[in-house]
Amino acid sequence: MTSPLARGEAPGKIILFGEHAVVYGRPAIAAPVTQVQARAHILPASTCTVEAIDLHQQVEVARAPADDPFALMVNLVCHALQRPLPPWRIVITSDIPIAAGLGSGAAISAAIARAMLAGFNARLTDETISALIYEVEKLHHGTPSGIDNTVVVYGRPVWFVRGREPEPFAVARPIPLLIADTGAPSPTKIAVGDVRRAWEREPVRFEALFDAVADIARQARAVIEEGTILALGPLMNANQELLARMGLSSPELDRLIQAALGAGAAGAKLSGAGRGGNMIALVTEETAEEVAEALRAAGAVRIIPTTILPAPAT
Ligand code: PMV
Repeated sequence: MTSPLARGEAPGKIILFGEHAVVYGRPAIAAPVTQVQARAHILPASTCTVEAIDLHQQVEVARAPADDPFALMVNLVCHALQRPLPPWRIVITSDIPIAAGLGSGAAISAAIARAMLAGFNARLTDETISALIYEVEKLHHGTPSGIDNTVVVYGRPVWFVRGREPEPFAVARPIPLLIADTGAPSPTKIAVGDVRRAWEREPVRFEALFDAVADIARQARAVIEEGTILALGPLMNANQELLARMGLSSPELDRLIQAALGAGAAGAKLSGAGRGGNMIALVTEETAEEVAEALRAAGAVRIIPTTILPAPAT
């Protein structure tokens, strides 16, 4: 087999607090999930193609429609570097579940960008890479907050407010979580569109819900910086309650959340777009196994244990 000319990879992500409200200018907290990764490698070829093995998709970049996310990413990187399309076969693999709230689209874009930069032996700042991915994210849904591209590119927990530089913040103690997949796909575009219509119908109610989410996110940041991690549990439950009031939970999510709490999780909530996809549960070394067992029994199709690791504020 020909060895790759270059490689790139990027992690999945979870939103700990503030999804949806973040689209309306409120703060959110997100963290990378390194247990799942999107990878791209580059092989020599005669034309520039992108091949997504898991998705059974292949596009020739020069002939792809304007709304093809892979081709757009390749074109954006070439444009930013002022290079012509290279004769490369860019092969993507990913174990990040799709349409499940784990940021698979942004991670694939980031992996493509990184592999291309390595292939060209060129550099772009994280800020530029994140901005390019944001352009692709707009294809997935029209009004992305930018949180997905930011967290997968920076690769560390971020305090994120739309339109601002992400603020790294200190994580004082490890935060052990289980991520459990309902198995019900939930395209972000639909959930985000429904929230927009509901906000247009009832702006006062929705603005108040978003403000309440923002307040929880601020409290959560202080807790994470102090390291009193179990105090995040009630904040996760309160955030979930507000998301449910926005119409974003589902019977499958409710079942997993109840199962996790019943088995001793300190808190649980949906993560990402909602309606399906993944939920997260805050556990300890003592409760992790029992909670995982209960999630499986309640129908979780996949459980990913992850720990957000202590990090300084820089
Ligand atoms: O479903 P995901 O992982 O793409 O998360 C979407 C997060 C939202 O807040 C619902 C949308 C956004 O653009 O921030």
